[in-house]
Amino acid sequence: MGRIDTLLGDITQLEADAIVNAANCTLLGGGGVDGAIHRAAGPELLAECRTLHGCATGEAKITKGYKLPAKYVIHTPGPIWRGGGQGEEKLLASCYLNSLKLAAEYGCKTVAFPAISTGVYRFPLAKAAPIAVRAVREFLSRHDTPETVLFVCFSPEVKAAFDQALGQT
Ligand code: AR6
Repeated sequence: MGRIDTLLGDITQLEADAIVNAANCTLLGGGGVDGAIHRAAGPELLAECRTLHGCATGEAKITKGYKLPAKYVIHTPGPIWRGGGQGEEKLLASCYLNSLKLAAEYGCKTVAFPAISTGVYRFPLAKAAPIAVRAVREFLSRHDTPETVLFVCFSPEVKAAFDQALGQT
């Protein structure tokens, strides 16, 4: 192992080849991590996002990182939690898998994820963390790139959930 790790911190500060943005389907910015990424990257990020014409839930699109230390931003709209009967779990796994697929295509060796959908979109953290870990493990078991995946956790609570999910086999 050693290819997956957790970190307590702000994803906008990370020098990864790609950071993932928990976006919405417009790709035109918002609150939470999305707002932080756009503020740190500068207005050129929004200008490139405008050319992408949105993104479906569970899919992913890539842009440059502009003023961020990261080279690329991979934007993926997670599912809004509606109780679990609307395919939310499958869609959340797709966010991770499609983001990793794009990262591999762009040769990204290090990729950092926030806890997609667990903020404004209210996906329960205790369900989201094992789904994220399972999807990333599955992808890494079949691909050499990325080499390292980081879960960047904005609070100790998020980090505890991801550490616990990583500890389970
Ligand atoms: N670094 C890492 N994680 C962060 C940061 C940061 N700088 N800021 C927040 N988080 P959220 P969602 C964590 O709400 O639930 C936006 O308006 C946060 O603590 O950012 O997927 C979009 O435009 C939480 O654990 O994303 C969409 O409309 C996690 O990131 C909507 O919110 C995700 O919380 C997407 O909602």
